[in-house]
Amino acid sequence: MDKTKENREARKLQQQTCKAEQEPFSLFPEVVTQSVQMHHVLQLVAKMAKTNGSVLILGESGTGKELIASAIHRLSPRAHHPFLAINCSAIPDELLESELFGHAKGAFTGADRHREGYFGAANQGTVFLDEIGDMSLRLQAKLLRVLQEKTYSPVGSNRIVEADVRIIAATNVDLEKAIKEHLFRLDLYYRLHVLPIRIPPLRERYDDVECLLHHFLDIANQVHYKEVPCWFSPEAMATLCRYDWPGNVRQLQNIVERLVIVREGGEITGDDLPIECQLNPGQAPSFRIEDSLPKPQLQYPSAFGTLPTQGMNLAELIEDLENRYILEALQRTQNNKNQAARLLGLNRTTLVERLKKRKIGVKLT
Ligand SMILES: Nc1ncnc2c1ncn2[C@@H]1O[C@H](COP(=O)(O)OP(=O)(O)OP(=O)(O)O)[C@@H](O)[C@H]1O
Ligand SMILES: [Mg+2]
Repeated sequence: MDKTKENREARKLQQQTCKAEQEPFSLFPEVVTQSVQMHHVLQLVAKMAKTNGSVLILGESGTGKELIASAIHRLSPRAHHPFLAINCSAIPDELLESELFGHAKGAFTGADRHREGYFGAANQGTVFLDEIGDMSLRLQAKLLRVLQEKTYSPVGSNRIVEADVRIIAATNVDLEKAIKEHLFRLDLYYRLHVLPIRIPPLRERYDDVECLLHHFLDIANQVHYKEVPCWFSPEAMATLCRYDWPGNVRQLQNIVERLVIVREGGEITGDDLPIECQLNPGQAPSFRIEDSLPKPQLQYPSAFGTLPTQGMNLAELIEDLENRYILEALQRTQNNKNQAARLLGLNRTTLVERLKKRKIGVKLT
């Protein structure tokens, strides 16, 4: 790109980021959010995107770490160069080394020619190292050299190659704990930790759930059923908004897509939802059937039908027994309530009623 064009682009980017510091949502069309928590995250992201520093993105699985990493790249002066993402936990150590640093011809069996790695291919761009907590100590040392000296050597070569890449790393493991257990280098942690961003899990930003549900519903409707769209009943929406989403945005996206495919158009009701959402371990007082399984103090009579001499808590035992059978029937039928009800000799409505009854302290809307 010629210098004038580059300056113009840099000025445009600067104007955009200034605006974004006051109103960051406008700069991140790919990030669907309405929450104050993500507003703060995006404000920080807009600021750090302008710099060249390494970024460490922390957050549970499925919170949007890769989405934020690519947004940082898109808003950075490196935007016109490649953004390459690699998952460090998915690739064996030896292979990861050659993927990152490339290898020389003859470096190992099958290396019949020189190959450029990610750091070479992403020249002037960004490399996103996902799941960095799973990288071996040996490769961590090599990565530290890239960060400190801006050089590396391909596998099987003494050649010193200049590295002009920005590194964005992400992890869902507790790196401080990994350092204590000697699984992660402290010096690498400090290098990466210069600009940390923590993406909160969905259960800490319930304000985002509804807009994400609508967003992924629209996408799934477009992809799967152009003529007959699906929509959520108010009850289904209320239940999903209360659920705590342990798998975060990725889980929400998958569930919405599955519902649209299975429903084939029309209203998605509370009964269509997966059992884990219906049992609602979310915001409201939580309850799972598993939680109601025998507590240590709950004593079953040693012989069926005999009243133990010390007496018993009949109501608790009956409830416990019922929960066990319901859970087993649901597990055996992969949460198909019609089949589970048949196995239990109940009609479906009674089973659904019993499941709802278990939502202690939760009022269904
Ligand atoms: N705020 C959001 N708005 C729209 N889509 C989102 C949002 N957050 C996440 N997503 C989408 O959710 C999915 C999971 O996000 P992503 O892969 O970035 O998560 P992750 O934190 O990297 O997950 P993992 O730890 O499992 O690698 C992607 O399809 C992403 O586009
Ligand atoms: Mg990821």
